[in-house]
Amino acid sequence: MYEDMHTSDELDAIKKFEEEKSREKDSEEPEFEGVVYQPEEDTYLLCDASDEFAFGNVLELGCGSGFISVEMAKNGLNVTACDINPDAIIHTKKLAESENVKVNVIESNLFESVADTFDTIIFNPPYLPEDKREPKGMMQVATTGGESGYELIESFFHEVHEYINKNGIILLLFSSLTNKDKVDEIISLHGYKSEIVREKQIFFETLYVYKIQRL
Ligand SMILES: C[S@@+](CC[C@H](N)C(=O)[O-])C[C@H]1O[C@@H](n2cnc3c(N)ncnc32)[C@H](O)[C@@H]1O
Repeated sequence: MYEDMHTSDELDAIKKFEEEKSREKDSEEPEFEGVVYQPEEDTYLLCDASDEFAFGNVLELGCGSGFISVEMAKNGLNVTACDINPDAIIHTKKLAESENVKVNVIESNLFESVADTFDTIIFNPPYLPEDKREPKGMMQVATTGGESGYELIESFFHEVHEYINKNGIILLLFSSLTNKDKVDEIISLHGYKSEIVREKQIFFETLYVYKIQRL
């Protein structure tokens, strides 16, 4: 589908742009080169929305570098960060330590190792449709949400009700490349309502941040 929406020249341009940005960041922290997702436009957009809306006991799922979790801890919130990637766990712990804030960091596949419930769940999931040309590895895990892009979001909504407090909110980032109609369908199917609280056009895609609550 990713291929269907763009010409191969456009896809090559997107890849080149992303690789260049990632190389710039990697040169600052070579030990995490190509293994931990570094803050990008999506991270900053979700962090901005989280600054406005996150409250109480916060879970960041798929914390990557830990940038958002550490910002939320700096805001005085009680933060748990988790990721499936062990190097993301190391990176997040180091970042929290260097910024002198407390973040509870857990290695977990979605909610598998999460025991608590939360007022705010922040999630910037891998949201791109599978690109068969992309090499396998943790960077693919960080960006590919499944064959169509929305599959991990779907798995997240199967489980999230057990981990969100009654008046809690979910702050979810995804892209126009994820299939917005399908994401809307998943959200309402699971008994939630959403509003767009941030929207940004970058390159060939639009990024959305949804604030989601129980109906
Ligand atoms: C797009 S990156 C976002 C990273 C960070 N939150 C940010 O905004 O910069 C997605 C993150 O989700 C993690 N991830 C992917 N699949 C996961 C899963 N099943 N459970 C937990 N984390 C997962 C990846 O390792 C990656 O760090």
